[in-house]
Amino acid sequence: MPDKPSYLGLLNSISLAESAAHCYLTAWAEVTSHDGVRQTLLHVAAREGEHGMSFAKRINELGYQLKKKDDGNLDKILGLVRSDRSDLEKMDALKFEQFDNGEPTDVFDKFFADHTIDIQTGELLGRYIAEERDSGRKLRACYEQVKREAGRSSSASPAIAALESKVDSLCRAVEDLRQVVCAQTMAPAGG
Ligand SMILES: [Fe+2]
Repeated sequence: MPDKPSYLGLLNSISLAESAAHCYLTAWAEVTSHDGVRQTLLHVAAREGEHGMSFAKRINELGYQLKKKDDGNLDKILGLVRSDRSDLEKMDALKFEQFDNGEPTDVFDKFFADHTIDIQTGELLGRYIAEERDSGRKLRACYEQVKREAGRSSSASPAIAALESKVDSLCRAVEDLRQVVCAQTMAPAGG
């Protein structure tokens, strides 16, 4: 029997993560009242489900079986996406700001560092990576749209939002001080 492929664990992790994502994105799509959000969630969920199955299939073709793991995290995410929190709150909780964030590298850059990957698996991985990056762009665009609709600045990073809030407090403090100085100036002398 040939040696066990070194990348079996990678294929297993991808299959499990993608199947889990299909599960919670579909559950979220079932409860959102926003047509655009539902469309994006279902679009990405369909890819995730197909990735989950394709990687399980590839593991099987290589002569092995998908190893399932208990995923307590999935129950937590399902609780979140089925809750009555807004789509924006769910996106914030699931860190949608991580998608298409302008970073020059991402988690997929390391996948082909393993030079023993066979052609068929490499083909599957290549398509998977391109689709994941495209899904990231779609989820990011959806997030920005929902933020705009909620009246939240689309460009504000959490750091800038924190800075804006500090500047606002500073402005209020200066205004309070101005009123105090003004009142003192206008008070009758020698009172
Ligand atoms: Fe994915």
